[in-house]
Amino acid sequence: MSLDDRFAELGRRQAEAELGGGEERIRRQHKAGKKTARERLELLLDPGSFTELDRFVVHQSHDFGMDAQRIPGDGVVTGSGRIHGRPAFVFAQDFTVFGGSLSEAYARKICKVMDLAMKTGAPIIGLNDSGGARIQEGVVSLAGYADIFLRNTLASGVVPQISAIMGPCAGGAVYSPAITDFVFMVKNTSYMFVTGPDVIRSVTHENVSAEELGGAAAHGGTSGVAHFAADGEEECLALVRELLTFLPQNNLEDPPLRPTQDPVDRRDESLQAAVPDQPNRPYDMKEIIRTVLDDRYFFEVQAAYAPNIVVGFGRLGGRPVGIVANQPAHLAGCLDIAASLKGARFVRFCDCFNIPLVTFEDVPGFLPGTAQEFGGIIKHGAKLLYAFCEATVPKLTVITRKAYGGAYCVMSSKHIRGDVNLAYPTAEIAVMGPDGAVNILYRRELEQAADAAAFRDAKTSEYREKFANPYVAAERGYIDEVIEPRDTRARLTAALEILRTKRDANPPKKHGNIPL
Ligand code: HXC
Repeated sequence: MSLDDRFAELGRRQAEAELGGGEERIRRQHKAGKKTARERLELLLDPGSFTELDRFVVHQSHDFGMDAQRIPGDGVVTGSGRIHGRPAFVFAQDFTVFGGSLSEAYARKICKVMDLAMKTGAPIIGLNDSGGARIQEGVVSLAGYADIFLRNTLASGVVPQISAIMGPCAGGAVYSPAITDFVFMVKNTSYMFVTGPDVIRSVTHENVSAEELGGAAAHGGTSGVAHFAADGEEECLALVRELLTFLPQNNLEDPPLRPTQDPVDRRDESLQAAVPDQPNRPYDMKEIIRTVLDDRYFFEVQAAYAPNIVVGFGRLGGRPVGIVANQPAHLAGCLDIAASLKGARFVRFCDCFNIPLVTFEDVPGFLPGTAQEFGGIIKHGAKLLYAFCEATVPKLTVITRKAYGGAYCVMSSKHIRGDVNLAYPTAEIAVMGPDGAVNILYRRELEQAADAAAFRDAKTSEYREKFANPYVAAERGYIDEVIEPRDTRARLTAALEILRTKRDANPPKKHGNIPL
């Protein structure tokens, strides 16, 4: 074979690999409103930065006529590239090849890029679009999944792991994305479930479509499995790129600085009136969050799930921070099971990756009710408490209004290693709200009082005077400072600067036993 022939053969093989399952299947993929694996990688990565690995890998299966169907790449495109100039490892499942189903060879390709991501300390991003285990390969395919699950687990807390669901993701295959740090979904073209509509119909006689059962709305809003629900694939991949701008490459790095023109000492007069006069009036905590952050920009995570707690990323003086905030505009900001889970997972993510936590607190307590108690609010609320206790990143807290009961302790209080705890003059820090307290403390007197309403008013005012303020806590040093709301940005940025060199650690142990 001449040299020219050899180069021609390489070109022919490369072209064959690029075509995946062939033109007809690519056409079908486009018709279904989906892009191909390679088109997706082009959108995800900086232009021209993709370096492919294992382009010529084929499956080794012989049964069911598979010897006659060997497609280079075998249904998954893997390699590395850059996102905003920083390296990332990627795999994109190719639905045009055996429905993107996972074979032994395919799993090895994914494991190879996962191993490289771990060795080099770079994020790993998986674009999922697959019919699951390759049926023709049987247990060998299941073994491949397990190899990936193990790597997901070992990589957890070492490099950021991101999953974008861009087609089917069903059965045990869901457990790889589930272990990763963030799950993105595309509305109307992606779904995730352990058992699909047909199995559900035959077992429980429920009728449900794939989209209702496991679409972006179901997982973004109801189950909380997904963190982002995008309108289309372009938006989804742009969101993945943006998320990475807040994250370090691995657990040994700090998150990247992004210099800002926004003055760190910017005072905002609008904050003075952000918390309403009346203690039970709702307001939007996101307004305060946005006002305080660099360029008033907040990148919210899990916006549609448990809106009574708000989590997401922003920057202060160019430094990424993770925001955790009670939201008085929903359920009065009460902590319930979903909010606890959402908050705990986010706090732990930030702690893994050296992202300081800024907590905005206005919480009347844990949500009462049998649904919550039977659902295990005790153990789920404990997760949020555990996560804040365990976190050793810089922890800043601003109490805007209510900090009642156990929720006061939970929300990054001084007692659980809050570094800088601030309060607005509107803060109310107490075991419970004045009305509840008076009902308990003066139950008998209220029953016997000639004018119960007047007695209640008098006692409520007395209690409010005594406890519904930040000063009892400030007198004990539980609150470092009572600040004017307009100074929030300056105070937080200064605190963050001081805490830049913070070092703290937990006792050596194999791992803790978070109340799962
Ligand atoms: C082999 C598969 C496949 C699979 C799809 N294909 N799934 N090949 N193994 N698991 C092939 C089809 O034969 C077809 O090949 C092509 O992919 C596209 O599939 P269609 O059915 O034509 O596409 P569509 O109508 O869009 O339906 C997609 C689908 C459906 C919903 C994903 O294909 C489906 O239900 N597949 C089976 C899903 C499944 O039960 N998987 C196993 C789950 S258990 P041609 O040649 O016609 O293009 C599992 C366990 C994981 O995954 C365990 C981990 C621990």
